[in-house]
Amino acid sequence: MTIEKRYRKRYKSGNTPWDAGQPDFNLIEIVTKNPILSCKVLDVGCGTGDNSIWLAQNRFQVIGTDISDIAIEKAKEKASKANVKCDFILVEFLKNKIEGAPFGFVFDRSCFHSFSSEDDRRRFAQNVANHLEKAGLWLTIVGNADEDRQGPGPPQRTAADIVLAVEPYFEVLSLQSSHFGSNRPNPPKAWRCLMQKRHIT
Ligand SMILES: C[S@@+](CC[C@H](N)C(=O)[O-])C[C@H]1O[C@@H](n2cnc3c(N)ncnc32)[C@H](O)[C@@H]1O
Repeated sequence: MTIEKRYRKRYKSGNTPWDAGQPDFNLIEIVTKNPILSCKVLDVGCGTGDNSIWLAQNRFQVIGTDISDIAIEKAKEKASKANVKCDFILVEFLKNKIEGAPFGFVFDRSCFHSFSSEDDRRRFAQNVANHLEKAGLWLTIVGNADEDRQGPGPPQRTAADIVLAVEPYFEVLSLQSSHFGSNRPNPPKAWRCLMQKRHIT
């Protein structure tokens, strides 16, 4: 099954445990504690849009992109209900250049980590760099392999997995062990990694 069909099936059946219905506190903390100036933001794999909408409500000009048509439709509905200006585009990130680039800040929650191959994660990182302006920032929230888990949950990556993929294109500014923002008890452990685009890319 293609990635697109896999996610379509999950959104259609409501099997979307990542969809917290609220912005992730990791994003809020990073954006409010760091001097990230108002800029154009790209939310890759935006899902139903809660993080994009929060960013748009907080002085950023936001484009959210996702491979799932159902997620994009829900995101548009939420933004309209909240009376927030935010663009949502149906697109496969690894194969397309997103209109609106360069961005000052790229955010993704659980999209980068969904790629199981090292090559794809590196391609994802390179594509993020290609969409960023000089010295632009990328914040990714990633399932953390240091959690000993029984049962289902998000993909888990090590710190080395992250660094290996991003290192050629980004300087890691911070890599912290955290957990996913969630409205459920015992949310899965996560990494939050803030990076800055290197001059060479
Ligand atoms: C685990 S969900 C997280 C959604 C959202 N970021 C959130 O936190 O609620 C991963 C999202 O990435 C999207 N996605 C996966 N691969 C993608 C790709 N290659 N291009 C664009 N979106 C993709 C999926 O459709 C899904 O909505």
